[in-house]
Amino acid sequence: MPPTAPGRQNSQAGTSAHADVLDQLRALYEAECPPGYELQESVDAFYRSDEFWERFLQWIEQEPAAYPASDKAFVESALPVDGAHIINVGTFYPWAEIEWGARAAGWIGLDNNPHVLARAGAVLGDYPAHHVSLMQADITEPLDLGERFDCVLDLSTLDQLDPRKYRTVLENYRRLSDQLVLAYDATRLTFAEYEFDECGFTARMNPDTITALLGRMGYRIVDHRPFACLDRRSYVLAVQHVRREDEERS
Ligand SMILES: C[S@@+](CC[C@H](N)C(=O)[O-])C[C@H]1O[C@@H](n2cnc3c(N)ncnc32)[C@H](O)[C@@H]1O
Repeated sequence: MPPTAPGRQNSQAGTSAHADVLDQLRALYEAECPPGYELQESVDAFYRSDEFWERFLQWIEQEPAAYPASDKAFVESALPVDGAHIINVGTFYPWAEIEWGARAAGWIGLDNNPHVLARAGAVLGDYPAHHVSLMQADITEPLDLGERFDCVLDLSTLDQLDPRKYRTVLENYRRLSDQLVLAYDATRLTFAEYEFDECGFTARMNPDTITALLGRMGYRIVDHRPFACLDRRSYVLAVQHVRREDEERS
């Protein structure tokens, strides 16, 4: 998303050398979340607004260093997209669907927000030969589509979700694919910082925190490029290193 003012400083709430990273992220959230704040409602309202949609379109047209160019370069370096089956979690403006939808053998663009999906569907009407379908689902709820993909793409969607749901989200990703390409907003502050005013919610994690989180959830990081774009947007290619079947047996 377009860069905005820096977020609040990390209070370090809930961080300690031995705490589980999921518990630390939860504790920080519970310490910082304003009373009564409805995160998903705020995020949904942000992404349904016509004003942000228009502002975003202008931004990517006028700004050559806008993140889609950088995301495209990382994805191309990480994934053989041609002939792949991909699920892209969090579509907003469907630039990824436009870019790769013809080369992939199958592509699902998933988003919880019907307004986002309606606008994305209208844009994709100009690309009838693309192998893209759009799906409405809330990735913070358990999801089993009964099929596996070559890769889950999460291009800065995790960092807009409730950190207390990260376990469920990452379990979904593992159920959907062995591979994950993640773009996330990083902070140089220790651990993480949460911003409740920007985009409804934004979590910025320190690269060490992302490493710990993905490791905790059974992933091995293959490639990690912190602060690769706009001094914030960062990239990870991760693969599962603990097979889900082994976890279920143990
Ligand atoms: C930061 S945008 C990322 C869009 C796109 N990947 C990009 O890089 O331009 C986050 C997207 O996630 C969607 N989203 C937010 N909460 C979600 C949820 N619980 N389940 C699925 N999608 C969600 C939003 O509607 C929005 O389209």
